[in-house]
Amino acid sequence: MAIAVYPGSFDPVTLGHMDIIERTANMMDHVIIGVLKNNSKSPLFSVEERVNMLKSVTAHLPNVEIQSFDGLLVDFTHQNHANVIVRGLRAITDFEFELQLAQTNRVIAPDIDTIFLTTNLKYSYLSSSIVKEIAGYQGEIKEFLHPEIVKRVREKMQEKMAQAN
Ligand code: PNS
Repeated sequence: MAIAVYPGSFDPVTLGHMDIIERTANMMDHVIIGVLKNNSKSPLFSVEERVNMLKSVTAHLPNVEIQSFDGLLVDFTHQNHANVIVRGLRAITDFEFELQLAQTNRVIAPDIDTIFLTTNLKYSYLSSSIVKEIAGYQGEIKEFLHPEIVKRVREKMQEKMAQAN
């Protein structure tokens, strides 16, 4: 069985992530999306919300499972009997961090390999942070997210605005 872990913050999941998830699901027997719990970036969505959003947009993919995790990614990968970590590479600017992450993980867990998928050119500029920034200024985000996620981001932004007033 080829089991892969696709880790990330997914705050929120974008169409760029979706593209990587769908392509990985086509290549692997089973894919576990690992949603990072202890995120120093102070996420917009709670980990439960991020897990639920991912569940909703991957419901059509029978070999994809969503879990949250904290601690080391390699420990989470071992716990799930996976031996591959998948990461998306958008541009050369991603490469330095991704190489460091992959090399470090390989030193601490030599049985796990990281594979990189280059993102679809259509989404090579896209990031969750950019989407949140646009949404924060009430900009249009439907080009970047699944319609269900667009709705949840708008609701969250309204909640935040109501709290601020
Ligand atoms: O989507 P992101 O925020 O770029 O994902 C980063 C992630 C979750 C892959 C990375 O922060 C991670 O693996 N965190 C878990 C802790 C860990 O194992 N760190 C790597 C040791 S170098």
